[in-house]
Amino acid sequence: MTVPVTAPATAPQILARCRELVRPALTVAVERMHPWPAEMAAFSFGWSEVGGAPVPGPGPGSRGKGVRQALTVLCAEAAGGRGEDAVVGAVAVELIHTFSLLHDDIMDGDETRRQRASVWKAYGTGPAVLAGDALFALAVETLAASRNVHSGAAVRHLAATLNDLVRGQADDLLFEARPWRGPGAVSPQEYRSMAGHKTGALLGCAAGLGAVLAGAPAATADVLAAAGRHLGVAFQAVDDLLGIWGDPRVTGKPVHSDLRRLKKTYPVIAALSTDSPAARQLVALLASGSPLDDAGARRAAGLVEEAGGRDATLAEARRHLDSARACLTSVPLAPAAVGDILTLLPFLVDRRM
Ligand code: IPE
Ligand code: MG
Ligand code: MG
Repeated sequence: MTVPVTAPATAPQILARCRELVRPALTVAVERMHPWPAEMAAFSFGWSEVGGAPVPGPGPGSRGKGVRQALTVLCAEAAGGRGEDAVVGAVAVELIHTFSLLHDDIMDGDETRRQRASVWKAYGTGPAVLAGDALFALAVETLAASRNVHSGAAVRHLAATLNDLVRGQADDLLFEARPWRGPGAVSPQEYRSMAGHKTGALLGCAAGLGAVLAGAPAATADVLAAAGRHLGVAFQAVDDLLGIWGDPRVTGKPVHSDLRRLKKTYPVIAALSTDSPAARQLVALLASGSPLDDAGARRAAGLVEEAGGRDATLAEARRHLDSARACLTSVPLAPAAVGDILTLLPFLVDRRM
């Protein structure tokens, strides 16, 4: 007799399973908002058009990958609990993530997100700020009102994350005015700290919340949160890569916007830390004081690549993935869920969107 062997789930299947588990509770939460911010939230999720008409077609109609909600569900399972117990945490992190994107697109002046107009572009800046605030408030309220006995610890976990996220965004914005080279230049270590806050904090929170809501010991939650933070830094490094060499039709975000805004992204920092002719030409181009036009941005991208910034960024992302993997072997965890997390890790670094 042959025993049927089921193939391990692929990364898209894992993300879809988690999205389907979380979506009903996310919908219920958004329906509790004031109708106006709720419409903007639904637009941002890809559920509806401007004006509120539902997006036609089959499927859940979600435009985000759903990495954070998946991490919460999978980490609850990894900690020996059920994904269902962590759905409220997954809802909270998706709401916080969406709030942070709404405000981030205003700060960065980016007009597109998830293949459509960013919320400030579609609805105006004031309404987009308000919708972000509403999502923030809803996230905290949703978690605090949960009947899960660990919800108090979960709210404390989320509160610390929010501080870190603001810290990361503050550094990211302040870095814009820093010089490209010399004593005031942003170092790779400063970048890691900034990315660890602006992106790592929420991925770490997503992972840790899953464990907390599953009632895991603090040591397990801490290790999973550390894995999530490393994944976050890797994720941000790849986000920086896609901002230069990604296809905007696939990423859904503008290309070269970071270069034009003089963002201190990892590829540029790494390129400028070499003493190559390409690095010298790059610094002359970036520090010229005049804003980069399309041709200038393309030339800068070419010089970053020539100076090794692209390869160095992938190497940086892979180092953080290795650290995330190492965390997952440092405490006893449920092997099936760890298998799913290990399937997701390389997918998130080798992604095109
Ligand atoms: C976004 O960072 C981080 C937060 C929203 C907190 P970026 O500005 O680098 O990300 P994208 O490229 O706009 O998504
Ligand atoms: Mg941005
Ligand atoms: Mg930003």
